[in-house]
Amino acid sequence: MPTNISQLDYEHFKTFLEDACGILLGEGKQYLIVSRLTKLLREEKIATVTELLSILKRGHPRHLRAAVIDAMTTNETSWFRDRTPFDALTKSVFPELDSNGVRQVRIWSSACSSGQEPYTISISIEEYLRAAPTSSVKNSQIVATDISASMLAEAKLAEYDNAILGRGISDERKRLFFKAKDDRWQVADSVKQRVSFSEQNLLLDYGRLGKLDIIFCRNVLIYFSAERKTDILQRMAKSLNPGGYLFLGASETIRGYTEAFDMIRSPHGTYYRLKA
Ligand SMILES: C[S@@+](CC[C@H](N)C(=O)[O-])C[C@H]1O[C@@H](n2cnc3c(N)ncnc32)[C@H](O)[C@@H]1O
Repeated sequence: MPTNISQLDYEHFKTFLEDACGILLGEGKQYLIVSRLTKLLREEKIATVTELLSILKRGHPRHLRAAVIDAMTTNETSWFRDRTPFDALTKSVFPELDSNGVRQVRIWSSACSSGQEPYTISISIEEYLRAAPTSSVKNSQIVATDISASMLAEAKLAEYDNAILGRGISDERKRLFFKAKDDRWQVADSVKQRVSFSEQNLLLDYGRLGKLDIIFCRNVLIYFSAERKTDILQRMAKSLNPGGYLFLGASETIRGYTEAFDMIRSPHGTYYRLKA
């Protein structure tokens, strides 16, 4: 694949990507297209971005569109990322849901990447239940979604190597919540059993997910335009049960996009609660 992409092709590719998944490429990011698509184009025997764009415009083969989106997403993640959201869950949110008498807690990890976020939520539930064994948090369901089919496949496999586990899992948690399998670590059944994975583009309707009590939408809105952030946050607000909670990434905010939430500043960081 040639490393120079014409300005016209760049503009067309940017439009394709933004329309398909919301990801906004800034100026001068041609190198990102080259570094992320070279392998795919070689495999597909496509010589240039011009040719790729004309195939995408014709709309088939359909797998190519998904593969391009997959290659262009940033999937960086880790266990207990930023720590505070998970402290907030076990120290504030779960006790509040318990005292409100919620019988089944439904949690959506809306950009779950390779699974660390939903499994971390599930480990947090396991830890909470050790202290509060009769809590209805026991009946939680975690719906984990992403747009990337390859990330969802890794997440479902639920096996990680030592280096990946080393990014946020202590020895004690490794012992309690993982099983050794060859030279890898498998997520324990107790953690896995409440998590289900499926594909969901955040730009599309959330109706099939049903009503939720807690939404994690972390480190994905940063890639989107202000209009997309507004639209996504407002539709997430509509998907929550009364008093439901929203967690964003450490560098993300709702300010300027929606007024549907109250900001909760707790010792465990900032999160949001749907206004009454
Ligand atoms: C940087 S990762 C964040 C993972 C995790 N939430 C965390 O904070 O560690 C961003 C994820 O968003 C996903 N993503 C990007 N655009 C999306 C879209 N339109 N719909 C759903 N997921 C999307 C990517 O595939 C990627 O796995």
